[in-house]
Amino acid sequence: MKKVLGIVGSARRLGNCEIMVKEVFRGLDQPCELRLLRLTDFRIEPCRGCYACLFKDGTCSIGDDCSVVVDAIAAADALILAAPAYFLGAHSSLKRFLDRGLAFYSALDRLWGKPAVGVAIAGVPGLEGSTLLGVENFLKMVLADVRQTRVVYGAMPGEIFLNEDNRAAARSLAGSLFGTRVPKTAPCCPLCGGDTFRFLGPGRVRCMLCSNAGTIRMENGTAVVEIEKSDHQLFLTRQDVLDHKAWLVGMKERFMSLRKTLKPITVDYRKEGSWVKPHQTTTSHGQNEDDAP
Ligand SMILES: Cc1cc2nc3c(=O)[nH]c(=O)nc-3n(C[C@H](O)[C@H](O)[C@H](O)COP(=O)(O)O)c2cc1C
Repeated sequence: MKKVLGIVGSARRLGNCEIMVKEVFRGLDQPCELRLLRLTDFRIEPCRGCYACLFKDGTCSIGDDCSVVVDAIAAADALILAAPAYFLGAHSSLKRFLDRGLAFYSALDRLWGKPAVGVAIAGVPGLEGSTLLGVENFLKMVLADVRQTRVVYGAMPGEIFLNEDNRAAARSLAGSLFGTRVPKTAPCCPLCGGDTFRFLGPGRVRCMLCSNAGTIRMENGTAVVEIEKSDHQLFLTRQDVLDHKAWLVGMKERFMSLRKTLKPITVDYRKEGSWVKPHQTTTSHGQNEDDAP
């Protein structure tokens, strides 16, 4: 029996995200086991940017719950993610976990290519901001194979299913998890399916999901987007992950060779300004600001 992991990006018990994940699960056309993971239940510390996880055995030096979440994703055969819009973006629990993503590369074999669907849930129609992008980015960065994503609206717990269309959306998401991929109907990036773009200049755009650039033009009243691959992909293929990791590892050598040049640049700023301190004097990474190099 396949194991499905439902990832809930909201602290609200039996809120819209939780019931959406469970409704998608109910729609699966084969018997599966549902495991649930509420991201806000886990102690996920900020990444320290030490890059240690890229070396040795690939473990992170922070002793929190990050690896529990990685292991739960790795143990699943498929993922269902739902996250709420908070201030026009996906709930911070998603990003907090993603910021630890350097540690995901050493779990590549266990993570790569799991079928996944994602739902962005916003309380006010049209006020989802970048929530869908956050949901899709999460699934891509945990190296999943995104089969379909949706935005649905509902503010009060349960409100999403006052609208029958949202149950139909859940059924469609369920159908695509192990079945046919459902591409977006609106114009989107032909490489990754992202539909959020930054305008770079006349006719040029960058896809905010895969970061590749290209052109946008109108053809018979429809926007046509063409995007070209760059030479640094995050991550259209498994090899892209290995290449990116190798590039990061190479940065260590580059840093070592430039260290003496870089040091005086930073040290020049050491005494500038005074720091506002938290109540506790140690930072979340256990270092006193006064001791910081
Ligand atoms: C702090 C906070 C910020 C929110 N920001 C937005 C927002 O920017 N846009 C929006 O449409 N809804 C916003 N909402 C509403 C939630 O996205 C909505 O209620 C959603 O259904 C919550 O999912 P849940 O029940 O799983 O927690 C916000 C809710 C909270 C508590």
